[in-house]
Amino acid sequence: MSFAHSHLLGIDPLSPGDITTILDLADQYADLNRRDIKHSDALAGLTQINMFFENSTRTQASFELAGQRLGADVMSMAMQASSIKKGETLIDTALTLNAMHPDLLVVRHPHSGAVDLLAQKVNCAVLNAGDGRHEHPTQALLDALTIRQAKGRLHRLSIAICGDIAHSRVARSNIQLLGKMENRVRLIGPPTLMPSGIDAFGVEVFDDMTEGLHDVDVVMMLRLQRERMDGGFIPSEREYYHRYGLDTEKLSHAKPDAIVMHPGPMNRGVEIDGELADDINRSVIQKQVEMGVAVRMAAMDLLARNLRTKAAREVIV
Ligand code: NCD
Repeated sequence: MSFAHSHLLGIDPLSPGDITTILDLADQYADLNRRDIKHSDALAGLTQINMFFENSTRTQASFELAGQRLGADVMSMAMQASSIKKGETLIDTALTLNAMHPDLLVVRHPHSGAVDLLAQKVNCAVLNAGDGRHEHPTQALLDALTIRQAKGRLHRLSIAICGDIAHSRVARSNIQLLGKMENRVRLIGPPTLMPSGIDAFGVEVFDDMTEGLHDVDVVMMLRLQRERMDGGFIPSEREYYHRYGLDTEKLSHAKPDAIVMHPGPMNRGVEIDGELADDINRSVIQKQVEMGVAVRMAAMDLLARNLRTKAAREVIV
């Protein structure tokens, strides 16, 4: 198993081989997580600190559980949004934590690029749990694992990512990952919610759900990221649901066995019909949450193996 990275900052630096390595190990952890005793000592003796400068429910819980199941000492710091100050303050916080000798630092931050900056200042492995609208690599990896398990493969699939693409780090990481694995990616949403420079993404763009969903294998819905909007991007939520909200009628244009995904938290009746979200024959939303723990266990395990190799080399020198 080869994974030659010191951090997991984004999908961008990963090769298709790296992605497959993480997913293969995550498959094994998904099996472990279904057993009565869900414990391994892959991270025994290591310290994991979670720093979430932005609200999170599932991602933070998932990283905590992943570290605990692998036997790490896990600490989550309560970082209030009000205490966020850019530049030196973030770096000072990082240096303070670094002095406590953590091995793994899991960071979520509202500013794009903040996690990369922090990784340059510390000497432990850093995992990006979402930075601004930039990247959210473990979300894309858990989505990939969910797709691979449901469809039996992760290549030559047609995948629609729908809704607020412009503000979404989930979309950005997924576009990269799915592209690297040679899938056809379509983006569907109102032009006001498409990022600029979309042509460079190597995707097809639609502003009509019926057209965009035609014959796709996977439908990935996104939340309207209101906290990142500074004006009126949509006429009203009602109008948005009418045009872009996923319901059974719109889904009927996709392949009959198409799966429905959503990273959560979801707004029922805004981007997705509540009953469809709960339909276990179509929706894999709960499965995504389950795979999240397995993927984070795999990512932290691989980074820890590299830490140990590095430490062993330093001792020999
Ligand atoms: C996503 C995020 O935080 O980027 N949520 C998550 O990690 N499950 C998507 C979102 O907030 O809409």
